Amino acid sequence: MEADLTPEVRVSPGPQGVAEEAADFLTAIFKDAARERGRFLLAVSGGSTPLPLFRLLASKGYSSKIDWGRVHLFWADERCVPPVHKDSNFGAANDALLSKVPIPKDNVHRIMGELPPDEAARAYEAELLRYFNRDGLPRFDLVLLGLGADGHTASLFPGSDALKERDRLAVSVYVEKLKSHRVTLTLPVINNTANVVFLVTGREKADVVKEVLSGEGAGRYPAGLVRPVDGRLAWLLDVAAAGGPGEGGPNL
Ligand code: 6PG
Repeated sequence: MEADLTPEVRVSPGPQGVAEEAADFLTAIFKDAARERGRFLLAVSGGSTPLPLFRLLASKGYSSKIDWGRVHLFWADERCVPPVHKDSNFGAANDALLSKVPIPKDNVHRIMGELPPDEAARAYEAELLRYFNRDGLPRFDLVLLGLGADGHTASLFPGSDALKERDRLAVSVYVEKLKSHRVTLTLPVINNTANVVFLVTGREKADVVKEVLSGEGAGRYPAGLVRPVDGRLAWLLDVAAAGGPGEGGPNL
C-alpha cells in the first residue's frame, strides 16, 4: 500500500504562533531522540522565518527543556559569506540562539561560508560523513525548512541542477537571481530525515503554499520534491501563508 504522503498542516494565527508550534514540535522530537539515541540531530534553515523560533528556544521557558549537550546542530543551507556577515545563516542563528544557550562548540557543525563555494560544500560533506560515521546517508531527527515565494527550499531553487543530484550530500550552487553562491543539502539527505518541518509565514507565500500542498503541481517546485522516504512531513503555517482569512478562511 502506498505510504500516506499527505503532509500534516497546522495553521497558527501569526508568526509567533508558528514559532510556538515549532518549538513544541522540536522539544518533543528532542525528547524522543535523546531518550532513544542519546542525541538530537537537527538541521536548520536560514532566512527570517526561523528567527522567532530561535529566540523562543533561547528563552527560559524552552531553553531549560533541552539538554543542549545532546543537541548536534547542522544547517540545511548557507550563504557563501563569512560567519560574521549580515547574510550568514550561522550568524543569524548564533546571534538569536547559540550565543544564549550552553550548546558545546563541537556540537555546532556550520557550513564554512567563508571558503570558496565548492570547497565549502566538500568540507561540509566531509563533516557529515565524519559525524555520521560514513554509514550511508545522514539521517537527521529534524530538518527545519523554509519556503521562498518561488517554491525554493534550503538553497534548492527552481531549475537548479542541484535538484537532480543523487550522490553528493551537499553541493554549492550559484543563484543567478540573487547573484550569490550558496551551499545546500541535497534532496537525498533531506528526504532521509525522520521529521521534516516547513515553517512558512506571510501572505506572499500563500500562492506557492497552495500549489505545493495541492499535490498535482508540487513537482514543479523544489519544496514539492521534499517527501521523506521514511519520515514525517509537516507544514507549520500562519493564517496569512495558509491563504486566509478571506473568502473561505485558509485555502488548504
Ligand atoms: C536561506 C533559506 C531559504 C529560506 C527561504 C525563506 O538560506 O535563505 O534557507 O531557503 O528558508 O528563502 O526565507 P524567509 O524565511 O526569509 O522568507
